[in-house]
Amino acid sequence: MARIVLGAAASVAVYKSVDLASKLTQAGHSVRTVLTPRAAKLISPQLFAAVTGEPASVDEFSSERRGAMDHIELATWAELMLVAPCSAGLTARLALGLAEDLVSTVALALPAGRPRLVSPAMNPHMLASAPVQRNLATLRADGWTVIEPGAGHMACGVDGKGRLPDPAELVQAVERALR
Ligand SMILES: Cc1cc2nc3c(=O)[nH]c(=O)nc-3n(C[C@H](O)[C@H](O)[C@H](O)COP(=O)(O)O)c2cc1C
Repeated sequence: MARIVLGAAASVAVYKSVDLASKLTQAGHSVRTVLTPRAAKLISPQLFAAVTGEPASVDEFSSERRGAMDHIELATWAELMLVAPCSAGLTARLALGLAEDLVSTVALALPAGRPRLVSPAMNPHMLASAPVQRNLATLRADGWTVIEPGAGHMACGVDGKGRLPDPAELVQAVERALR
């Protein structure tokens, strides 16, 4: 059973992350969720806190967190980090080491050797674009496990590759990484 930081970006697929957080918790893991500020506009952190029984964070600058350094605390606590869904924007920040939100900052502060997995989800044209492919290649070279997106009909109305895999598949990817 592992301590997992689940990062989530502002993708339409973020609704699946609640089920993912729930399934990981039911499998016995402790799951702390970190949402990007834009993800928190699409879905409430409170829902993640409710299904995991653990705090869910968005930023570390709120007045009640004064003096705390959530990015260090979360990165030290985590035995594995999974970013699902990862937007094109967050993919770029992770690849560049741009610590501009709590998810990308925790990723940078994660000690070497801890498994890190990223599950990109986006429109097929965005996924196939040169910058996104370049950034995913960088993440692989940096030691991230990039979970292959699924193909099918997308919420944006087109068919192609870019879907977030089903939560059960993501749980399996986590279990594999922990072994
Ligand atoms: C409803 C909605 C759904 C979106 N879905 C995606 C998506 O699946 N993948 C993606 O890369 N961007 C998507 N976007 C665009 C991102 O939200 C946008 O690029 C944003 O800046 C990403 O912020 P973040 O990376 O900080 O979470 C979506 C935007 C909206 C409004």
